[in-house]
Amino acid sequence: MSGSSQQTLSSGAASALATKNLRKYFGGLRALDGVSIDVARGSITLVIGPNGSGKTTLINVVTGFLSADGGKVLFDGRDITNKPPHEIFQMGVVRTFQNPHPLKKLAVLENLLIAEPGYGESVLQSFTRKWVKKEEELVKKAFDILNFLGIEHLWDEQAMNLSGGQLRLLEIGRALMCDARLIIMDEPIAGVAPALSHNILRKLRELTKSGISFLIVEHRLDIILDYVDWVYVMANGRIVAEGKSDEILKNPKVVEVYLGAQG
Ligand SMILES: Nc1ncnc2c1ncn2[C@@H]1O[C@H](COP(=O)(O)OP(=O)(O)OP(=O)(O)O)[C@@H](O)[C@H]1O
Ligand SMILES: [Mg+2]
Repeated sequence: MSGSSQQTLSSGAASALATKNLRKYFGGLRALDGVSIDVARGSITLVIGPNGSGKTTLINVVTGFLSADGGKVLFDGRDITNKPPHEIFQMGVVRTFQNPHPLKKLAVLENLLIAEPGYGESVLQSFTRKWVKKEEELVKKAFDILNFLGIEHLWDEQAMNLSGGQLRLLEIGRALMCDARLIIMDEPIAGVAPALSHNILRKLRELTKSGISFLIVEHRLDIILDYVDWVYVMANGRIVAEGKSDEILKNPKVVEVYLGAQG
């Protein structure tokens, strides 16, 4: 029943992200066929669904990497539909990728510093006192983030020497360095060992307390469900079910979608 939707739980005003009837077509294929979702501020909202159901396309349209063929994307109530990716990024919407691509020869700390939007500009002021202060501030900010993520001991390690899970933490660190308000993650724990996966998800949970919101696509339901507030289920470009994480798998529609996908 509609009374149990996340929109109602969180009230529309507290919505970090909303899509309204979002559409994306690849020729005759309806990759997004009228998708409406709501990510409450400070929540972790999960999108699941079989392979090819449109999850990554949803992320690509929301973040401006693909243009929408219809519908709207609202961030903090502002219409960001079809804005260029860098504008959406500057507004505080940061995505992480299934295969993180840090600059591999740079150290962990350097990867954080170059993620900060102001850093490049400030190189022009590199001989001024102002710059020195700014650099000190940025290094402190980066170390605070590394400490929070529990990878401060790796600050001087080249990114290419990190494990898959550590790379995911570095991606989260880069997003925090940019003061992200909404972090969108495509399969953040794919291929990551269970212990480190739980560690990553606990960190995300802590970050929600400061009002950061998460939209996550993930297949590892055995691990992730305990950490999320609301789940949307996609199939064939549509949302076919939604609900709380402890109830969603009991929904017959969800069972049908997954069994159908295997057949
Ligand atoms: N650039 C593209 N051009 C044409 N078709 C595409 C393109 N990107 C995705 N598709 C198609 O759109 C549909 C949705 O793909 P999408 O990648 O969004 O699925 P997904 O839910 O992320 O799947 P997975 O769980 O395997 O990552 C699929 O049928 C896919 O083949
Ligand atoms: Mg995908």
